[in-house]
Amino acid sequence: MWLECPEIVKKARPGQFVMVGCGPDCTLRRPISIHQSNSNGVALFFSVWEDGKGTQWLSRRKPGETIDTIGPLGNGFQINSKSKNLLLVAGGIGIAPLRFLAEDALSRMYLVKMLQGASGEYQSRDKPNPSQLYPKHLLPLKMDALAFRTIECSPDGKSGMVTELLTQKIEGGTETYIDWSDEIFSCGPLPMYKTMSRMPELKNKPVQVSLEVRMACGLGICYGCTVKTRSGLKQVCHDGPVFNLCDVLWDEVVC
Ligand SMILES: Cc1cc2nc3c(=O)[nH]c(=O)nc-3n(C[C@H](O)[C@H](O)[C@H](O)COP(=O)(O)OP(=O)(O)OC[C@H]3O[C@@H](n4cnc5c(N)ncnc54)[C@H](O)[C@@H]3O)c2cc1C
Ligand code: FES
Repeated sequence: MWLECPEIVKKARPGQFVMVGCGPDCTLRRPISIHQSNSNGVALFFSVWEDGKGTQWLSRRKPGETIDTIGPLGNGFQINSKSKNLLLVAGGIGIAPLRFLAEDALSRMYLVKMLQGASGEYQSRDKPNPSQLYPKHLLPLKMDALAFRTIECSPDGKSGMVTELLTQKIEGGTETYIDWSDEIFSCGPLPMYKTMSRMPELKNKPVQVSLEVRMACGLGICYGCTVKTRSGLKQVCHDGPVFNLCDVLWDEVVC
């Protein structure tokens, strides 16, 4: 969904998000990452939950309607200027902020590879479920299709995790994705981060992750999004959503 919001796009950086008002039945705005930008606005890319009042309402908006939106919010990803090879790792809809990062990094001449793990299309008992794998035609124009690899997780969620790709060799090469990368940027569900935090191969690698926790205000007022880190309590909406993987006390985080 594209939003015309020149004031927001002027300041938007990859990894930041907006708080979106979702109609008269939702008291609280919902946090959604900035997915793309152009000179006039930003695009959002979101899952429409069957029982999600907010995303259901958003999905019914028509061109020309006005949506109450605050942003850009949060800290965003920080690329080290000494890095050359950036690996982006998405779990499901976590691809949303990473596509914006990929486009920005490619325009600044970094080399980018992106991995996504998500559920594929399948027929459940009652109705078909659309694939959550990102359509290749929506990748940034400069992104070589070979630089984007996906893995489909099984419907029971027991195999096909994107973390399995991290230690695999890059096609046609001898290095793994982790070895190739100078830095890793990730967005996905909590179990994915817990797995990554336990991977010995990532121990000495700089990894930034974007945390998706429940938010009420999104503005640093209510403390509803507080998480424990090695440097004390942090508010995801204000101090994050991007944190270093090794700073968060993962066993204490509840999403
Ligand atoms: C910083 C940040 C950025 C985000 N960016 C995006 C984004 O770009 N795109 C996007 O799709 N989402 C994003 N989210 C998650 C999004 O804010 C929530 O999914 C949102 O609450 C959905 O609103 P809703 O009213 O539709 O559902 P709610 O009423 O909030 O939830 C209803 C039900 O939907 C399901 N549900 C909702 N969210 C999740 C979830 N994250 N994981 C599993 N089940 C869930 C649950 O079954 C829940 O009971 C982001 C969250 C944060 C904190
Ligand atoms: S959501 Fe209210 S302080 Fe972060």
